Amino acid sequence: MPLVHGTELFAAARKGHYAIGAFNTNNLEWTRAILAGAQEKNVPVLIQTSMGAAKYMGGYELCKGLIEATVKAMDITVPVIIHLDHGNYEAAKEAIAAGYNSVMFDGHDLPFEENLAKTKEIVKLAHAKGISVEAEVGSIGGEEDGIIGEGELADVEEAKTVAATGVDYLAAGMGNIHGQYPANWKGLNFERLQELADAVDVPLVLHGGSGIPQEQVEKAISMGVAKLNINTECQLAFAKATREYIEAGKDQEGKGFDPRKLLKPGTDAIQATVEEIIGWMGTKPVKLVPEEI
Ligand code: 13P
Repeated sequence: MPLVHGTELFAAARKGHYAIGAFNTNNLEWTRAILAGAQEKNVPVLIQTSMGAAKYMGGYELCKGLIEATVKAMDITVPVIIHLDHGNYEAAKEAIAAGYNSVMFDGHDLPFEENLAKTKEIVKLAHAKGISVEAEVGSIGGEEDGIIGEGELADVEEAKTVAATGVDYLAAGMGNIHGQYPANWKGLNFERLQELADAVDVPLVLHGGSGIPQEQVEKAISMGVAKLNINTECQLAFAKATREYIEAGKDQEGKGFDPRKLLKPGTDAIQATVEEIIGWMGTKPVKLVPEEI
């Protein structure tokens, strides 16, 4: 069973100047599409649930069980990391208890000292069970599952302090935004990214990966981003393909209304998106879980 934590994989990615994709799942179709894309490209993949998606799907145990069983049913051989995206303190503890391989504790909206203290606690709890931890400094702009971030650049000293807690990867505000980028978006702040990359060795996480031009993604990866988070891009691809199917009247032809037919174009579109973005990241192909993990 190729379920693994992320510590060594992401450390190797930062060292090797490539990234590993972190894709949000929402249901069975999403899970299958993400896993199929990673298997097709023969690369490790991180599959993550936000707190909202986990609630929608029925809780952390269900999400973990669904992903684990799907990995098995699809004969997936590439390493798969099951991760909690933007968890609060309680959610991080729940996901740890449910057996996720990796959790994000997002304390960016807490006073810094409290974010730091809680990050330390989650690191201790998670590492005791061999689970990796992502923390956040600065904030990611935009809205995701009701969490609204102003988009504040990460402070380099705070990044150093949080990195010293032993977190395995660090999400940092660098001009990135969740959801679709507005037409007047200024682009990633490469100056801040360089300062962060010079200050900390931990793999950096680029949230809000959807809609960032390919050359900016590639540049960020070359500078130290090792985890690229993608959610909206897959949602848009799914919605477009599903709309086209219905607008073409295919749901009214024969048994085109059967959900296994109706949801197929959208699912295929997610897989195609996953494969395209993996192609930008230079992820090293692997066949089996590295021995040491
Ligand atoms: P996008 O929806 O903008 O791709 O952001 C995903 C993300 O960062 C998940 O944490």
